[in-house]
Amino acid sequence: MDIYQFRKKKEAKQKISMVTCYDYWSAKIINSSPIDAILVGDSVGMVMYGYENTLSTTSSMIAAHVEAVKRGAPDKFIVADWPFLAKFKNLKSFMEAGAHAVKVEGAGETTLDLIAQILDVGVPVMGHLGLTPQFIHQMGGYRVQGRSMESAQKLLEQAQLLEEKGCFALVLECVPSAVAQEVTQSLEIPVIGIGAGVDTDGQVLVLQDLLGFQKDFFPRFVRKYMDGAGLIEKALKDFHEDVKQRKFPSIEESYE
Ligand code: KIV
Repeated sequence: MDIYQFRKKKEAKQKISMVTCYDYWSAKIINSSPIDAILVGDSVGMVMYGYENTLSTTSSMIAAHVEAVKRGAPDKFIVADWPFLAKFKNLKSFMEAGAHAVKVEGAGETTLDLIAQILDVGVPVMGHLGLTPQFIHQMGGYRVQGRSMESAQKLLEQAQLLEEKGCFALVLECVPSAVAQEVTQSLEIPVIGIGAGVDTDGQVLVLQDLLGFQKDFFPRFVRKYMDGAGLIEKALKDFHEDVKQRKFPSIEESYE
């Protein structure tokens, strides 16, 4: 996958699949899967470090996790998230770690300047509109965006502006399906949705959500493809019982 294939997939009406990934072992599994692209999201701060929101995710965390993911998934297109208040000079560390592109939240003046700077040095940018978690305090929490006519219109204009500025794709998070459909149809670049209905050009989910590893997080837009937490709990309980009852290790699992 490269940025031209993103566009080609949209033109051919082939959906794009993207998942988050933060570590080497799951990257290895994704590398041998048909998933189109990997996002080393700033959600790493919440999922892997237990922070309350993504504002605590740092550039050094993103660089370190991109590096691990790149080792596990050398064949995949990797997007590094631009962390809250990151500096332009940090871009080098993301690219050296193995990212192919960065994702930047928002479309305000400062963000547009940053996007222009990043594009100017040759790094592709994925935009991110709708529910942009780095703006959590301004949005008053994790709320669906673009519900009113005015906010939907603003979203559409911002999306068009990001395309005009040179973004190669756009993540649209938590917006009504009809709004997402309109944004998708009005852009030539692919729109990858999360909580944005079925009509976007692709879908992205946090890996731990779709694998069911998050026990206390059930947003409406997540589909659990397996009960990861339940499977791990059972495996740990079985191991514990086997140890207590001297059933592990067996003779075959021991050396003579
Ligand atoms: O950081 C992240 O995981 C994201 C996705 C939810 C799109 O930005």
